[in-house]
Amino acid sequence: MSRCRIISLPDLSKARNRQDGASIKYDEAVYSDALRRFAQGKKYLVKTFGCQGNVRDEEIISGYLEKAGFSKTSDEKTADLVIVNTCAVRENAEDKVYGEIGKFKANATADKDFILGVCGCMMQEEAKAEKLIKTYPFIKLIFGTHNIADLPSLLDQVITTRQGVVDVISYPGDVIENLPSIRLDPYKAFVNISYGCDKFCTYCIVPYTRGRERSRPLQSIIEECRNLVAEGYQEITLLGQNVNSYGKDFHDGTSFATVLEEVAKLGIPRLRFTTSHPWDFSLEMLDVIAKYPNIMKCIHLPVQSGSTEVLRKMGRRYTREQYLDLVKAIRERMPDCAITTDIIVGFPNETEEQFEETLTLCEEVKYDAAFTFIYSPRVGTPAAKMADNVSDETKHERFNRLVKVVEAGVVYHSAEMVGKTYDVLVDGPSKKNAAILSGYTESNKLVNFPGPSYLKGHIVKVRIIENHAYSMLGELNENPVDVILGKAKEKLTQEPAYINYLAAKEAFASDAELQRLLAEKEAAQKALALSLGSNDYEAKKATFAKISASIEENPHYINFISASDDLRDLFEEMKAILQ
Ligand code: 5AD
Ligand code: SF4
Repeated sequence: MSRCRIISLPDLSKARNRQDGASIKYDEAVYSDALRRFAQGKKYLVKTFGCQGNVRDEEIISGYLEKAGFSKTSDEKTADLVIVNTCAVRENAEDKVYGEIGKFKANATADKDFILGVCGCMMQEEAKAEKLIKTYPFIKLIFGTHNIADLPSLLDQVITTRQGVVDVISYPGDVIENLPSIRLDPYKAFVNISYGCDKFCTYCIVPYTRGRERSRPLQSIIEECRNLVAEGYQEITLLGQNVNSYGKDFHDGTSFATVLEEVAKLGIPRLRFTTSHPWDFSLEMLDVIAKYPNIMKCIHLPVQSGSTEVLRKMGRRYTREQYLDLVKAIRERMPDCAITTDIIVGFPNETEEQFEETLTLCEEVKYDAAFTFIYSPRVGTPAAKMADNVSDETKHERFNRLVKVVEAGVVYHSAEMVGKTYDVLVDGPSKKNAAILSGYTESNKLVNFPGPSYLKGHIVKVRIIENHAYSMLGELNENPVDVILGKAKEKLTQEPAYINYLAAKEAFASDAELQRLLAEKEAAQKALALSLGSNDYEAKKATFAKISASIEENPHYINFISASDDLRDLFEEMKAILQ
């Protein structure tokens, strides 16, 4: 950054700070005229690395940018504003970020108005923000995880001062509600339930980059989820670094079980959650998961190591045996529940025996999927200061052995799936072949199968015909047309306007006085027709009008007519489903 104003830089000692009781604030971002003028006709692109928490941040960043007037593009060459949203969890995640930043030097050289911003977890690390400032003079904005809500004002400063701006704050963090958001998926949504982490596992940088653990108010979460259900979302994933400790900072008995149950009751077809720390997993939470069919029986339960001694050094707060007891408790309640995990290989001084304990644990649990990582020292964490006698070669060799054992578990589960039929939420046509759809089962297994693209966003029955270990090949086990018609019927029967119509129709039909009047009206109409040209005509006409007026005054008649009219809007909505 050539000319650059540093408002604040990250400070790890402040980032360690924990104090209870986050303040709840509401988004009050101001969009200056200068920013709005600048954004007019300009396109933005956000490049995100890392976990779902970062993906959700991208949606919020996009929300701010679109409110300012930028529009979205996926074309790197024509983007006028690019934000690189970084991850700090391992060194290789950071290396990718440097490559990404380098790519935009050409945009910056070609256009003096081009803005490259960098944000996210990596910017919360002291050395990293400073390194970027020195190495990449074309970066115009650096901000962190705690001040995304300042984005409109930071951009205004960049535009009006024509100087780069760095503003990264390290503090425990507030909870900001009413955040603007442009969701990346029309059917699957991420909903934050808590931010930050207080666990301080000795290898992990997250408690420093994301601040202390703070839960969102229960009502705000429910409101957000209720809106998503109303918008037709099919899947919600509740997000937190450690969802299972949700509500502990309220000190009023609210727990993850509470939020899980309340959201499940809203009727979202699929409810997921991630990530769970085994230490905070209560049996009450398991009971809620078991009770609601729309809570997916799929638990991501990072074990990190199978050795009690390594777990102690990692600060994980559970032993191998306690972890296995939890797995047993899950399977006793939900025998078909998928269990997935994260594992770190090569933690400082990990012995061959300790590593083998990880292998035997994986053999015993037979995970449905596992993310495996080689330990990566993170500056500022306790583990980074530990002497390490394990060579890189040994770590890689152990990693490869672990991948084989994990794969055996994956294949064990996927082989069981062949010939059976599963509900699959369709993501859409696959990138390689438009005639092939892909989607995920309840256990988060990827399934590819031939089918029409209009099934995107629907949950369909698919029979598995081939096992490819990490993905499955299937065939539709129901008529796609029936899927859509069934959905339309289901929507119709749940709609208040339709329910109201049925009730009004029923009341109309069972009102004896009204039915008598209707029969009289029919007779009067016939008599009127026969009397045409005779002296009786005027009298018959008056009788007919009197009966008609009595009918129109009848409350059941009035209700029925107005309930029928109300169906018109609903039919317009139904068109969208059928298209
Ligand atoms: N080195 C390697 N893996 C790590 N993870 C977190 N910190 C590190 C590190 N320093 C892994 C853990 C965690 C997942 C998100 O990333 O397994 O569960
Ligand atoms: Fe990192 Fe441990 Fe917190 Fe997970 S629970 S984010 S591994 S400190």
